Amino acid sequence: MELTLDSPLDMHLHLRDGDMLKLTAPLSSDFAGAVIMPNLVPPVTTPDMMLAYAERIRAALDGAAFTPYMSLFFTALDEKALQAAISTPGFFGFKLYPAGITTNSEGGVSNLAEAERTLKLMEEMGIPLLVHGESHGFVMDREQEFLSVYRHLATAYPKLRISMEHITTAAAVELLDEFPNLCATVTLQHLLITLDDVAGGMLQPHLFCKPIAKRPADREALLQAALNGHPRLMFGSDSAPHPRCKKEACGCAAGVFTAPVALPKLAELFTTHGAADKLQGFISGNACRLYGLKPASKQVTLCDTPMQVPARYRSYGQEVVPMYAGQTLPWSIKN
Ligand code: NCD
Ligand code: ZN
Repeated sequence: MELTLDSPLDMHLHLRDGDMLKLTAPLSSDFAGAVIMPNLVPPVTTPDMMLAYAERIRAALDGAAFTPYMSLFFTALDEKALQAAISTPGFFGFKLYPAGITTNSEGGVSNLAEAERTLKLMEEMGIPLLVHGESHGFVMDREQEFLSVYRHLATAYPKLRISMEHITTAAAVELLDEFPNLCATVTLQHLLITLDDVAGGMLQPHLFCKPIAKRPADREALLQAALNGHPRLMFGSDSAPHPRCKKEACGCAAGVFTAPVALPKLAELFTTHGAADKLQGFISGNACRLYGLKPASKQVTLCDTPMQVPARYRSYGQEVVPMYAGQTLPWSIKN
């Protein structure tokens, strides 16, 4: 059995920088492009930083046809600064992090009131807003508690394109249905695992991420929305590599490294549920329609020949462990 996808896109990807970028970028190059997250140290806050980062990404890709859709780390900006962002080649949108909520987000927003004027301008100028939607509450309730903020944003800025990044709850799927100006990304792991897989037995550091995986009913709601071809739900891997020593540590960094297995696992998931016809929209069509993207044409064929996932990826002095490390997956990318 084979499945061919046109211009697959990863709408939420961490490629990191330096030697880690050299390792990770080629592992996403079966995608036609990806929205690149700005949470470097220091975060990517200016057009110049963004241009330089895009250039480093291109160099790491070594000629592979892959479009980095660059995001800037949201800070309160005036119209001139927003205009400068829009006119910078490769710019996609702003990523808003509540301060301190996840990896390298200390410079994020601590008081939403201070962001409102910028959000109004973004609405007028047609700039997408991507949001890490978690409160600082109890870890299992953080996304649910943030839904009132999404509700406020969707109501106060009806023309602002707001993406709820990496949603993990049934409640977020319900909210998506309520507001046409909301869209959402969902990761591979949140379609597949629950908190039980992370912490129900021996603790699995390589499955630990923010937002944390939730309950079976949440996973089911996310999966059904994806398999039923929800028109405003997109694939965003949130593939978030950390050095092995930072994951297998006392104090484990948050992030699951899924880039090398994302396409084979999605092919398996959608075909086993009889929804192969819905994968194209999820992996590319919805994003292209919602954001007016026109990625360079790139076809990727998946086949039901097994893939042996390496125990770890090692190069440039870096070492990272992927999801399903050492396992055999039923689908692979046809070369
Ligand atoms: C991400 C990272 O490591 O940059 N971690 C994660 O657990 N998802 C940040 C993020 O997207 O929250
Ligand atoms: Zn992320």
